Amino acid sequence: MKIVSRIKLPIEKEMELFEKKFSASMSSKVSLLNKITHYVVNRKGKQMRPMFVFLIAKMTNNGQVNERTYRGAAVIELIHTATLVHDDVVDDSDRRRGFFSLNALWKNKIAVLVGDYLLSKGLLLSIDNDDFDLLKIISVAVREMSEGELLQIEKARRLDITEEVYFEIIRQKTATLIAACCAMGARSVMAGDEEVERMRKFGELIGTAFQIKDDLFDYGTDHIGKPTGIDIKEQKMTLPLIYALNNATPQEKKWLINSVKNHNKNKQRVKEVIAFVKEHGGLDYAIQKMKSYQQEALLLLESYPPSPYKDSLELMVNYVIDRKK
Ligand code: IPE
Ligand code: IPE
Ligand code: MG
Ligand code: MG
Repeated sequence: MKIVSRIKLPIEKEMELFEKKFSASMSSKVSLLNKITHYVVNRKGKQMRPMFVFLIAKMTNNGQVNERTYRGAAVIELIHTATLVHDDVVDDSDRRRGFFSLNALWKNKIAVLVGDYLLSKGLLLSIDNDDFDLLKIISVAVREMSEGELLQIEKARRLDITEEVYFEIIRQKTATLIAACCAMGARSVMAGDEEVERMRKFGELIGTAFQIKDDLFDYGTDHIGKPTGIDIKEQKMTLPLIYALNNATPQEKKWLINSVKNHNKNKQRVKEVIAFVKEHGGLDYAIQKMKSYQQEALLLLESYPPSPYKDSLELMVNYVIDRKK
């Protein structure tokens, strides 16, 4: 059986119902909007965030979820989708999930507005049901994601990113949302503060590993449903390049910075930079860091008694770093 199917086994019923609720949560009276949200729903992603919500809710509550858990999962996926729609505008990327991105099909204006719509639909789903504790968790994540994206742009302009700042960017732009999933899963079934915090931390660790993996994809040539090799083009310095820079001679450093600064649209030059990073152990270093976050995340699951949900969560932690897209 495929690994994802195995992970989903103990939450099959929940994921099925989730999909119905998720697609219903997007409906609008504006026909252009409906056309676009249909397009979005039909090109679903890996749905890892709702999977985290359900698995954690079930692990912490003897296999029981409730309506709050479903709403929490839908809110998270709505917000995730909104940020991807905006991210493709920001990154000028024309592909997502193996198809055209919204900005590629309908242009930036529409993509920005659809992203806002999805974001507001997500927040309203919590507000309309008085899930204020869940809303607080998610709102913090939304704020941090915007800050992370802007910090990334600031650093891309100045090309002075350090490893420490890299980790701050990915914590904010990616790990906080996965942390919010995990905290919400526990909170939805009324787990206590300490457990919610433990699950938030678990999500933050695995979310960090998740983004390192995403950044590694950019150095590859595999078909992952979105463009690769665009980070350098966008002057986005990620962990492999930061490591290579920190370990380069002053002359190599000058060449690397000059390449990213002035030749970032030159495909041949970008290829040379990628080759340099590989030869100087940048990918190996990033892989090693990713695995250390994975291990730290696994430790936080140790105190839980055996259950199918815990098994799936462990598989999920491994899937984050072994996945092919
Ligand atoms: C992509 O997230 C955005 C990042 C935070 C790297 P996913 O890889 O979970 O995207 P989908 O939902 O499966 O397309
Ligand atoms: C992830 O950023 C998207 C957000 C967290 C908003 P990236 O730009 O690195 O993600 P992909 O690779 O386009 O999915
Ligand atoms: Mg981006
Ligand atoms: Mg992007």
